[in-house]
Amino acid sequence: MTAGLTQPTAPFVAAAALPAIEARHLTKHFDGLTVVSDMSLQLARGEILGLIGPNGAGKTTMFNLLAGSLKPSSGEIWVEGREVSGQAPEQRIAHGVARTFQIPRPFLEMSVLENLLVGAQKQTGERLFANFLAAGLVRREEKAALEKAHAILEFVTLSRLAHEPARVLSGGQRKLLELARVLMADPQVILLDEPAAGVNPALLEVIMERVAALNAEGKSILLIEHNMDMVSRLCSRVVAMALGKLLAEGAPADVAADPAVIEAYLGGGA
Ligand SMILES: Nc1ncnc2c1ncn2[C@@H]1O[C@H](COP(=O)(O)OP(=O)(O)OP(=O)(O)O)[C@@H](O)[C@H]1O
Ligand SMILES: [Mg+2]
Repeated sequence: MTAGLTQPTAPFVAAAALPAIEARHLTKHFDGLTVVSDMSLQLARGEILGLIGPNGAGKTTMFNLLAGSLKPSSGEIWVEGREVSGQAPEQRIAHGVARTFQIPRPFLEMSVLENLLVGAQKQTGERLFANFLAAGLVRREEKAALEKAHAILEFVTLSRLAHEPARVLSGGQRKLLELARVLMADPQVILLDEPAAGVNPALLEVIMERVAALNAEGKSILLIEHNMDMVSRLCSRVVAMALGKLLAEGAPADVAADPAVIEAYLGGGA
């Protein structure tokens, strides 16, 4: 009779162990082609997990599935113990999951600051009569969004470019703007698709340091990246995939030395 008193309750144990996001046996077919095949992975809360693999392995497709822009052919996606498989991207963002795009597409003629503000529009001002009924509230929300955008630009080191059109940004600065755009949604889970691709070494250090800082704030991060130096420095665990399938999982050095992973890279994914 007393045993139950010394045991933590089952829900407590389950909550502590719940992954921030989890893919369960995800498969995606495109016109008869299987691009992701029975992929499972778990991102623990507070972890930075690397997702590596040769070009065409299916990494971005995994992000599209996790973020909700593609529906899986089969399999499930869970966020903090809640199944989200059928949910649209906006609903996943509401649950704290946000992703960057491999190729950022900012509004080139808008300022850097405006690019952040257009993303922050699920506010009162969008509702038809809100402008008439609650002008004060709308103004307060606009002010809050503006302050938040400035703070985020400071965080990603783009403050001095806030009023420049996005077209003047370098490739690396566009990656930082893409990260800033995502941070406007206050995500708890951030999916980063090649944040360092094409970025010069100085800016690469900034991006790496910012990703580490977000993680230190408690954000869980899934990182797609070809730069193994970056992966080794940021991630204690890596998942490797090729041809849509899981190849290996473990510490970066062990995964990089795995014969199946080496073979996949040498064979160009085959
Ligand atoms: N919408 C689509 N329709 C058909 N095939 C697609 C579609 N999207 C991706 N693919 C194919 O799926 C495969 C995986 O693509 P994906 O973009 O997920 O790879 P990746 O691992 O992100 O590659 P990279 O490292 O080059 O970014 C590729 O063969 C690609 O051509
Ligand atoms: Mg990709």
